[in-house]
Amino acid sequence: MNSKISFQDVVKSFPLKDTEFTALDGVSLDIAEEEFVTVVGPSGCGKSTLLGMAAGLQEPTSGRVLVDGRQVTGPGPDRGVIFQQYALFPWLTVRQNVEFGLRLAGVPAAERHRRAGRAIALVGLDEFADALPKTLSGGMKQRCAIARAYAVDPQVLLMDEPFGALDALTRVQLQEQLLATWSRERRTVLFITHDVDEAVHLAGRVVVMAARPGRIHRVVDVDLPYPRTEEIRLSAEFRKIRNTVWTSVYHQEPAAPAA
Ligand SMILES: Nc1ncnc2c1ncn2[C@@H]1O[C@H](COP(=O)(O)OP(=O)(O)O)[C@@H](O)[C@H]1O
Ligand SMILES: [Mg+2]
Repeated sequence: MNSKISFQDVVKSFPLKDTEFTALDGVSLDIAEEEFVTVVGPSGCGKSTLLGMAAGLQEPTSGRVLVDGRQVTGPGPDRGVIFQQYALFPWLTVRQNVEFGLRLAGVPAAERHRRAGRAIALVGLDEFADALPKTLSGGMKQRCAIARAYAVDPQVLLMDEPFGALDALTRVQLQEQLLATWSRERRTVLFITHDVDEAVHLAGRVVVMAARPGRIHRVVDVDLPYPRTEEIRLSAEFRKIRNTVWTSVYHQEPAAPAA
């Protein structure tokens, strides 16, 4: 299989005083180019740890993580990471925050300006390009953080509960924006959420994890077409898949035997 992201028998343990804690125990997962995969699972099951390894922010204890067939050894501009906690520089404007990564990457000023402008427009922040973060709502700050990741134009988006702290309306708006962007530009997305509805709405596949030790419990295909219209969201098929995911998250019945 031609994988964009490949987790191969990944184990991650953290040393404790006189023992060690296994956060992930033998996770294998292949994500194809242009695929949109969401991950749900109980708190502490290792979702952030998994994403952190694809981002190159953490190393597996054993096993391998590959992006484009190459072992991940650190962060890179091919992967954009978006966390729940928007980390904006408070003294920089929206535009300057969005340009920051491009500046680091040595992108010339005119090109920086063009790419930042495009990313800011994508998330609907045009009118606030010159605003400082403290004058923005939480949802707008998160849009700014998303624009910053988009501006670098990464092939892979790694999103760790990016909409988790937002109000319901902003969350829906950003979901629709993300899906629209993804449909147009077709990046590979690995998206963590604790919201089962969000997981099903966005994904082509939902990975359900289990805790103690963290592992993949079940992978549920979301056989629904894009664009995910309201009609789809309200359909019996959607409800059925949502219920399957819900049950595997909250009841963690034994996984179905492999097909
Ligand atoms: N640096 C660390 N040292 C020790 N334990 C850690 C560390 N990072 C994460 N853990 C533990 O690993 C488990 C998985 O963490 P995490 O990936 O953040 O879970 P999730 O994102 O699914 O809530 C948790 O039990 C957490 O306490
Ligand atoms: Mg987490």
